[in-house]
Amino acid sequence: MIRVCNPPDRYGELLSRFEREWILSRIWAHDFTVWKSEPTEITNRLGWLHAPFSMVRELDRLDAFVSGVRSDGIEYVLLFGMGGSSLAPDVFARAFGPAPAHAALTVLDSTHPAAIADVERRLDLSRTLFLVATKSGTTTETLSLFRYFHRRVREAEGEAEAARRFVAITDPDSPLVDLAARHGFRETFLNDPNIGGRYAALSLVGLVPAALLGIDAARLLERAQSASIDCAKYEPLDENPAVRIGATLAASTLGGRDKVTFLFPPSIACFGDWIEQLIAESTGKEGTGILPIVGEPVAPPAEYGDDRLFVSFSLGGDGPDERALSGLEHAGHPVIRVELDDLYSLGDQFFLWELSTAVAAHVLRVNPFDQPNVEAAKRLARELVDGFRRTGRLPPTESTPLTVDGLVAFLAGTEPGSYIALQAYLPPSDRLTEAFTALRLGLRARFGLATTFGYGPRFLHSTGQLHKGDRGNGRFVQLVSPHDADLPIPDEDEGSGSALTFGTLISAQAGGDRRALLDVGRPVATFAVPEDAAEAIRRVAGELGEGG
Ligand code: PA5
Repeated sequence: MIRVCNPPDRYGELLSRFEREWILSRIWAHDFTVWKSEPTEITNRLGWLHAPFSMVRELDRLDAFVSGVRSDGIEYVLLFGMGGSSLAPDVFARAFGPAPAHAALTVLDSTHPAAIADVERRLDLSRTLFLVATKSGTTTETLSLFRYFHRRVREAEGEAEAARRFVAITDPDSPLVDLAARHGFRETFLNDPNIGGRYAALSLVGLVPAALLGIDAARLLERAQSASIDCAKYEPLDENPAVRIGATLAASTLGGRDKVTFLFPPSIACFGDWIEQLIAESTGKEGTGILPIVGEPVAPPAEYGDDRLFVSFSLGGDGPDERALSGLEHAGHPVIRVELDDLYSLGDQFFLWELSTAVAAHVLRVNPFDQPNVEAAKRLARELVDGFRRTGRLPPTESTPLTVDGLVAFLAGTEPGSYIALQAYLPPSDRLTEAFTALRLGLRARFGLATTFGYGPRFLHSTGQLHKGDRGNGRFVQLVSPHDADLPIPDEDEGSGSALTFGTLISAQAGGDRRALLDVGRPVATFAVPEDAAEAIRRVAGELGEGG
């Protein structure tokens, strides 16, 4: 169930416009002019509208595949993928977890050597199935992780056993199809090529990992089907949930509330990372965008400016602090409340937010299905890697050790309505995320600004688009660390060589994104922290509080 409290000023005007211009029926009819005058990367990106129904035909194959995997005694599944190819599987792994007698799923979307070493330590690779998920089949992080783990398994257990343990999820024409055939992968799932990365949750990209976890994929699709039916109702248009959410997101942004703060109960907090990517990468371009704020604890109304919309999720009665929420509503902030019955309601939420985002993107006049600025950072990282291959070194990182004075000096004078983006090229962990949450609270209290946080390179395939494509109101704080123990990336020729390490790759990614941000005039400061950074971050958070 969805309730909107204090709808923003232009909400009604947008609903009338949608009605007059037949926006919803045009979306369902695949009319690209809803977004742009050219069909490029639109007409071949609308398959997700039909996924709740079209994917039903995959269910038997999924059942057979999962039975085979289970009878092989597989205990772990390790998925390599970035952005749209990893965030929905991560929601399934974290929110549902494995059903009894099913394998546990780990998603690896970091190139930090310590993160990779940690996964290797935790999983018994001889009982692990590896999923290589990439629509394009060309994503550097995904393919580097594949090469690293494939070599490991090949060396330990031989070519034939390695072949049985790798599975591809990709588009029909991608280079991964050939790679998988060459190595004799156990299975290659060809996804509908008309579904783009962040709209792929209800396609094979999400369903294969979900089925391996023992999630009832048919039930998930049924929930998505009922959302799709609700979202196809034109009359009355103001009862259509995607229209209501899309209009609220867009009207808020037009009125200066361009930050949407998501509040979740801990049981589904992971859904925030998926929704963050969907909204940021779909809308953050051409000088506009809706900034999702995820993982920032709720505060009393006085701590917020008038630049936010709030969305609160509850699951079976468990939700964010009710007093805080009604405080926000009484203070006049727009608040969307979403009530979920059970975890399978995530099936309808995936669909609902995809359509709502597409509706909001229509108002902002952007193409929700492309990501033009992501390519800039990728190109600059590639240039750095190529330079490294030629010279054996990267340009020195322009970083200074992290101190509270350095941070405060960089952020001083930031205008109201701006935001602070913390970008951590560090090994992800709950302990570190908690330390960053403390830092975000300190920064919000000190500067009165919205804060975001993301691990690199994951966020490059998510909020990274918006950071460079929005109206330019972000301040970017990069955190980088030395790599105490590095790991080799096997060369593409599949021999035994390795010209590059993961440590070099992640440094090039940080350097490439720094340049991409500077090239479009965004302020960036790079701070060095130890590899085990949680304590350093906590200390700075504490000092910020004291100086407040
Ligand atoms: O939403 C998107 O399109 C991106 O986040 C992609 O999913 C991400 O870049 C990974 O791409 P691929 O699946 O081609 O490896």
